[in-house]
Amino acid sequence: MDRPFTIAVSGKGGTGKTTVSSLLIRSFIEAGEGPVLAVDADPNANLHEALGVTVHETLGAMREEAFSRTIPPGMNRHQYVMYRFRRALVESEGFDLIAMGRPEGSGCYCFANDLLSECMQQLEREYRFIVIDTEAGMEHIARGTIGKPDLLLIVSDPGARGMRTIARIRDIAISLGFGPETIHAVINRYRSGTASVDNRGEIPIAVLPDDPAVEAADLAAEPVSKISPSSPVRVAVRELAGRIIGMRDQR
Ligand SMILES: Nc1ncnc2c1ncn2[C@@H]1O[C@H](COP(=O)(O)OP(=O)(O)O)[C@@H](O)[C@H]1O
Ligand SMILES: [Mg+2]
Repeated sequence: MDRPFTIAVSGKGGTGKTTVSSLLIRSFIEAGEGPVLAVDADPNANLHEALGVTVHETLGAMREEAFSRTIPPGMNRHQYVMYRFRRALVESEGFDLIAMGRPEGSGCYCFANDLLSECMQQLEREYRFIVIDTEAGMEHIARGTIGKPDLLLIVSDPGARGMRTIARIRDIAISLGFGPETIHAVINRYRSGTASVDNRGEIPIAVLPDDPAVEAADLAAEPVSKISPSSPVRVAVRELAGRIIGMRDQR
């Protein structure tokens, strides 16, 4: 099988990165494109909630221990790290989830990065897609923690300010060596009837509607990925997933 198609979901805080990530993951699974690896790279991790699973351990938390603690007898450090990684990986139907957690000490994720790629190579599950819910800003991308994804989505509110943020993130990504063709904007929480989206020449890959079902799920503490498949934002994300599957097929 081909290597997985990796999507990093970036953008300012509160623009809908986690919502979009979780709905994309659902859409891929429903399209028969599982299994998907969900990576929660936001220290204020809540992708698991959006997907309705529980995280017991993060890579950040396991880092210190794996390298400071005495390794259990009969195991070498590598085996121990692998064992802890498997414990940190949450397995669910159609997807697995790994949470990066907070970087320790120096704030360096390098260890987690190397570890993640090494451990992932040893997983027997072959993921078709990897969806990374990144933290606000471009830290992970700047530090190379998540490598170079095949697709960088920048989620933004509609309007001029959002467009400026998209331009800023795009500039950073390009300066880091991302191909312009791999970077796409997603306008989220668009309300029809209000002023038309001022996109300043930006052609988004998707415009997702503001959907009361998302807020309702939030208020009811229900996983947002479980909202009705016919709700407007789910329909729009399904379409986006279809376009991404097309990009993957053309890779
Ligand atoms: N399309 C949408 N329609 C309605 N509410 C939304 C939509 N997308 C996100 N939200 C709401 O906006 C808030 C921020 O979304 P979230 O996905 O947590 O953003 P981020 O991960 O970027 O911080 C949440 O309360 C979420 O329920
Ligand atoms: Mg989030």
